Amino acid sequence: MCGIVGYVGPRQAALIVLGGLKKLEYRGYDSAGVAVLHANGGIEVERAVGKLSNLQERLYQKPLVGTIGIGHTRWATHGGVTEFNAHPHVGRNGRVAVVHNGIIENYAELRQEMAAEGISFNSETDTEVAAHLVDGYLAGGADLLTAVQRTLPAIQGASAFVFLSPQEPESLVVARLGNAGGIVIGIGDGEMFVASDIPAILEYTRNVIFLENRQMARVTRAGVAIFTFEGKPVQARVHTIPWDPVSAEKGPYRHFMQKEISEQPRAITDTIRGRVDFHRGRVVLDSVPLTPSEAQKLDRVIIAACGSSYHAGLVGKFMLETLARVPVEVDYGSEFRYRNPLITPTTALLAITQSGETVDTLAAMEAGREYGAKLWSIVNVIGSQAHRLADGYILMQAGLEIGVATTKAFTASLVDLYLLALHLGQLRETLPAEVLRRAVNDLARLPDLVGRVSEPLPIYDELAEIFFKREHFLFLGRGLNYPVALEGALKLKEISYIHAEGYPAGEMKHGPIALIDEVMPVVTVAPRDNVYDKMISQMEQVKARNGTVIGLLQEGDEIARSKADYVLEVPAAPQFLAPVLNIIPLQWLAYAMAVRRGADVDQPRNLAKSVTVE
Ligand code: G6P
Repeated sequence: MCGIVGYVGPRQAALIVLGGLKKLEYRGYDSAGVAVLHANGGIEVERAVGKLSNLQERLYQKPLVGTIGIGHTRWATHGGVTEFNAHPHVGRNGRVAVVHNGIIENYAELRQEMAAEGISFNSETDTEVAAHLVDGYLAGGADLLTAVQRTLPAIQGASAFVFLSPQEPESLVVARLGNAGGIVIGIGDGEMFVASDIPAILEYTRNVIFLENRQMARVTRAGVAIFTFEGKPVQARVHTIPWDPVSAEKGPYRHFMQKEISEQPRAITDTIRGRVDFHRGRVVLDSVPLTPSEAQKLDRVIIAACGSSYHAGLVGKFMLETLARVPVEVDYGSEFRYRNPLITPTTALLAITQSGETVDTLAAMEAGREYGAKLWSIVNVIGSQAHRLADGYILMQAGLEIGVATTKAFTASLVDLYLLALHLGQLRETLPAEVLRRAVNDLARLPDLVGRVSEPLPIYDELAEIFFKREHFLFLGRGLNYPVALEGALKLKEISYIHAEGYPAGEMKHGPIALIDEVMPVVTVAPRDNVYDKMISQMEQVKARNGTVIGLLQEGDEIARSKADYVLEVPAAPQFLAPVLNIIPLQWLAYAMAVRRGADVDQPRNLAKSVTVE
């Protein structure tokens, strides 16, 4: 979590940094701050609690002047949400300012040692210890890079830092330790940018370098010099990012989430493009290199993911087991490494992660690597850790996603899982040619089907008007649509703050049925599939107890309609692709409810888009 930005060049740094932070606000919005080196040689800091607009207002009243600066948007971990705890933090002698993403795990010990030496602290944060340590080395005569290099061995835990010092007014020093989210260095013409994520700098450059774990860099107007923590120079690769800067803007939409739900037909088209040979009826996934014999020897696929990506993984289990006949386990990234998993070199560990930086998912990948598993990822952000760590990967092609609650990356990952299942099915020879051909044809129709549910309809606002004061919702689904129920509930819960539970419909009778009354709406995902009859009887059970049913049903299904109080319709879809369509009305429903409740749709409280702390 937390977003960090740095700038060095000819322009006013505070403006560029603030603009960058705006694009990173989805990473945290408890407080924000900027530090700029003034022409008189001093560090000037401005910080404000709450949204970035509060900081912007302060900077408007009191502009910071200078052409080198750093900034931060905070998701609080150590220390409450106060101005004192807001970054940047300045060292004890005013020789350095720092912004930090991550956690210094041994900060309490370091703080105690420093306090014993008489150093006083201005905040409750872990970050401040790094400022004081670097400051101490600068006072001893070290240059900024050396001071940072000497500090890093004392720091435990994953962290990313940007340092600014009046002693070296031309450079920023950046360091990355572990998987606390990325550091991307943007290369401009006579100016350089640093950020924790690409959107912050996309307006200025698409040429970027990703700092690796245990690397640090000196960034000046003229360029960047990268070193290992041991001081060895590193020749870094420059990546060109294909995203269009316009994708980081809301355009005519009120919220990014609204924009991103609407963008799903395009995201799905891009995800399929180039990966399917429609002529031969085959899937082409060169980025997951595997020989037929390796594929046939696969004993298991373990999917590790968090949040919505975990729900996508649950759908993926159905796809992979049915189409490729390989056993699949799905686990939360945060649980996986604590359960002593059974992994062999013929196991594949598949990480699903939009950001590619979720620390728990990365930890699962590392555990997979330790056990000798093949590492695969389905990931949206090019150059992210999950992309680079993997032996085989599928890039989601969802495009830039900014709304904290994922939408288009979720559906894109479902399609990627389907492609992977077909790819493995081809290699393992578990798919008859006609099944494969039908699957490929289904993919060709998918963007059109998605297009039919991607427009907002009046029914979503009508339902929001009826139900916006309810405090509890139940979502039921079965089979492939059980994860859809989980995801529908998560969407509603995270952006509207209504308590919502997703449940496998068949389990309703083992608990949730006790909650059914006329107050709690029950959303049933009941398209005409192999468990349709069961879903109909579940809807009847809810009605028999005076419950209110919002049925997500197939177009024209009059039987199901007669069991529901309210209806959301989806077109008929092929079995494995149905979840892609079914989730979209639930995304719209959650969106409409959140808007009706006046909630902050794109930046729900306490959440962050890339969760880079454990
Ligand atoms: C956060 C986001 C979710 C996302 C989850 C996993 O909780 O708010 O939308 O599903 O992280 O993120 P990842 O980038 O790994 O898919």
